[in-house]
Amino acid sequence: MYEILPLGPEDLDDVAELEARCFSDPWPRELFLREAEDRPDNFCRVVRNLEGELLAYSIAWIIADEAHLGDIAVAPEQRGKGLGKLLLQELIDEAKIRGAVHIVLEVRASNESAIALYESYGFVKVAIRKGYYQDDAEDALVMMLLLQTEAQRDRGTGTQSYVGRKS
Ligand SMILES: CC(C)(COP(=O)(O)OP(=O)(O)OC[C@H]1O[C@@H](n2cnc3c(N)ncnc32)[C@H](O)[C@@H]1OP(=O)(O)O)[C@@H](O)C(=O)NCCC(=O)NCCS
Repeated sequence: MYEILPLGPEDLDDVAELEARCFSDPWPRELFLREAEDRPDNFCRVVRNLEGELLAYSIAWIIADEAHLGDIAVAPEQRGKGLGKLLLQELIDEAKIRGAVHIVLEVRASNESAIALYESYGFVKVAIRKGYYQDDAEDALVMMLLLQTEAQRDRGTGTQSYVGRKS
């Protein structure tokens, strides 16, 4: 059993600690500080079990028609149980509610488990950022998911027509 909660100042120590366990180039605690504020342009969630242990978190921004997943991590011993999917689905649902038409993210080109997670939701690779990661100059893949909003569904138009207008 677990609960999903908005990221708050009380989560910062645990999130920074888990971030350091999950990434070779972790964000510093100060970077999460701003995201712990309840702002209209962010969407940040933590997953805790009933004992209060932090299992996972995600950091995203939803600005105008774009949502951007900035960070997502699941504690190593909790992986493969659907928590990554849970957080991604939360973001997709919220992005649609706020009227975003796509979600973008960057992922290390070698991060097969994360890429598989994103592809399972329909994200596609749209670009490569050469040498994006500062610690080892690994390339980033830019991945994007086009969202079909309720408004589009009501009008009988969908993702394909959105692609058509943009290209
Ligand atoms: C990527 C990450 C968030 C996935 O979280 P998770 O809770 O283990 O993922 P889930 O259990 O929800 O799995 C969802 C899907 O992801 C894919 N996936 C997850 N782990 C995988 C693995 N080790 N190998 C291949 N695919 C994997 C599968 O498609 C899986 O769906 P399935 O179970 O139906 O096959 C987690 O591995 C993690 O925290 N990694 C370290 C931090 C990181 O790299 N974050 C991404 C930054 S861009």
